[in-house]
Amino acid sequence: MPLKIEHIGIAVKDLEKSNLLFKALLGSAAYKTEEVSEEGVLVSFFKTGDSKIELLQALNENSPIAKFIGKKGEGIHHLAFEVEDIKASMELMKKSGFELLSDEPKRGADNKLICFLHPKSTNGVLIELCQERRDG
Ligand code: CO
Repeated sequence: MPLKIEHIGIAVKDLEKSNLLFKALLGSAAYKTEEVSEEGVLVSFFKTGDSKIELLQALNENSPIAKFIGKKGEGIHHLAFEVEDIKASMELMKKSGFELLSDEPKRGADNKLICFLHPKSTNGVLIELCQERRDG
């Protein structure tokens, strides 16, 4: 069972510039900026209540974020739902007929294990399942 919306991911062209917007809106700067080289992205995180805003900027043109912006422009990229046990949630979603984008959980930013669901089976909204990593 998902616990909450853990974060909303937004694809941006210029992280520095977009950071200014969320700093002004939320009253504090990004608490973390992290490079996820496997995904070719630079990510910044803002706290908003019990959830977060994740800004994603492509580091190269092969990045999924570069492809997304090329097709759709900047904007909301994904919704991430926190789960207790990502493998169990992946199994459940698969059994329920939803397509996963990876067979195994991947290492995501901010100390998470993540898996995306294919947007063609989720109303066009890219959905991320994420679980806090417990192994440090
Ligand atoms: Co995310």
